[in-house]
Amino acid sequence: MAVWDLPVRLFHWLLVAAVGVSWASGELGWMRIHFVTGYFILTLLLFRVAWGFVGSKSARFSDFLKGPAAAFEHLRELRSSGKHAHPVLGHNPLGGWMVAALLLILAVQVGSGLFTSDDILVDGPLVAHAGSAVVKLLSTVHRLAFNLILAMVAVHIVVIVAYLLLRGENLVRPMLTGRKIVPGGITVEPPRQAGLLPAALIAFMAAALVVTLVTAA
Ligand code: HEM
Repeated sequence: MAVWDLPVRLFHWLLVAAVGVSWASGELGWMRIHFVTGYFILTLLLFRVAWGFVGSKSARFSDFLKGPAAAFEHLRELRSSGKHAHPVLGHNPLGGWMVAALLLILAVQVGSGLFTSDDILVDGPLVAHAGSAVVKLLSTVHRLAFNLILAMVAVHIVVIVAYLLLRGENLVRPMLTGRKIVPGGITVEPPRQAGLLPAALIAFMAAALVVTLVTAA
């Protein structure tokens, strides 16, 4: 059954690649590449936030951001029913909060990068628009937040491996193919899929916004 639309899958794997290149270029001091991947990540995040409101059902924040009660209920069901817990087509209520946290920390990382300076050669594109105290603070945030991203990505991957080992549920395949296998005897409504044209339009607008932001600065 179709669960992840193409825009969500493209978003996810482009994000993984961009975060990897951004980290490597930052470590190696390849700042042009570091800046461009940062702008690309910002474009991806703007796209994903908009898609969270107008995208396919499983992509929408309203579909996966549930209150703490739903998250605890999911945890309780996992512990009591294990492999037989009811399958969730989109993000489960726990995973939904992980997704929101990942998007938020990535936004903090790229947002602070725009105002980061090494005080010698390299300035983010918006440094001239902020006072020195703000630049100092955001430069520190930019250096520290990446450790948090690494920790959260590690948790993200550990949870995915745990689902495979403990529940026999492969979450990666649907993120590649878009389709999830629903066990026989369970009836679930297929999530409504949004069109690709609005996705392309939103992606274009997000890119235009980022280009305007960093070139008009
Ligand atoms: C830089 C590393 C990564 C980041 C920042 C990241 C971030 C994210 C985000 C934001 C989502 C939500 C997707 C959406 O709804 O738009 C997600 C979901 C997902 N990611 Fe990653 N991811 C990373 C690495 C990986 C890797 C290496 C794998 C595979 C081993 C993976 C597998 C998945 C899967 C399977 C889901 C869907 C989970 C579910 O079924 O609810 N991710 N990831």
